[in-house]
Amino acid sequence: MSLDSVSTAPFPIPANTFAETVTEVQHYTDELFRFRMTRPASFRFRSGEFVMIGLPNAERPVFRAYSIASPSWDEELEFYSIKVPDGPLTEHLQKIKIGDTIVMRKKPTGTLVLDALLPGKRLYMLSTGTGIAPFASLIRDPETYEKFEQVILMHGCRTVAELAYGEDLVKQTLEDPLVGEFAQGRLHHYTCVTREAHPRQMRITKALTSGKVSADLGVPTLGPADDRVMICGSMAMLHDCRALCEAAGMNEGSNSAPGDFVVERAFVD
Ligand code: A2P
Repeated sequence: MSLDSVSTAPFPIPANTFAETVTEVQHYTDELFRFRMTRPASFRFRSGEFVMIGLPNAERPVFRAYSIASPSWDEELEFYSIKVPDGPLTEHLQKIKIGDTIVMRKKPTGTLVLDALLPGKRLYMLSTGTGIAPFASLIRDPETYEKFEQVILMHGCRTVAELAYGEDLVKQTLEDPLVGEFAQGRLHHYTCVTREAHPRQMRITKALTSGKVSADLGVPTLGPADDRVMICGSMAMLHDCRALCEAAGMNEGSNSAPGDFVVERAFVD
């Protein structure tokens, strides 16, 4: 059977899941795409959380954790995904079309939430690749600007083309009727590219530790007094960013014990 046509697959919707309809699909590169889908009326989440999603293409579908990229006030749900050639889910998910069905488990969760951070002045969002997804949610949430004077969204990618989602996102956020006026002058988008020519051809960790971010944005060196950090990317990236925060004297936070920084893996691989 072809799994290409996910909407007509003759499998029942798994118990305890929502079945939602794809409303928009946009491909950025051969490896990256975003999609939007309907949001169940009863589904609540905090900006920055993730959910388990899958396709109704098997008796027991494969579910994977996806950060919700849309803010909690949005009437739809947005996701940003990598395409893995033999990935059990993304191999099929990358072929979805408007009108197809996506299944989603009912409970969102995650640590990249404002509640897990102590009060501060500046919020750094450190991301690589699709790790920008939870921050796509948070930079569109007015609460982020109620809690922080400045929001520094750092995004590191291999190529310039991989920055496109973040660039569109920030542009739309600044023009958004609900959050645009909060974000203007306070949301800084700081991009780095590692494998192509770019004004900042370096890893985001290097940009931070070398003092380049401080010099470019006119902010003090990272420290526990005023700065808070959220981190999302690959395991290696999380490791290095965590070490960087700890070296700056920061403590890791969680939902039950808020701290100076929080960490979450960009899940799908
Ligand atoms: P690099 O090209 O030097 O490996 P990936 O697609 O492998 O997740 O990488 C996405 C981006 O994250 C790339 O720019 C990559 O840089 C960078 N990166 C990989 N590992 C780390 C790390 N440990 N700390 C910071 N950035 C990293």
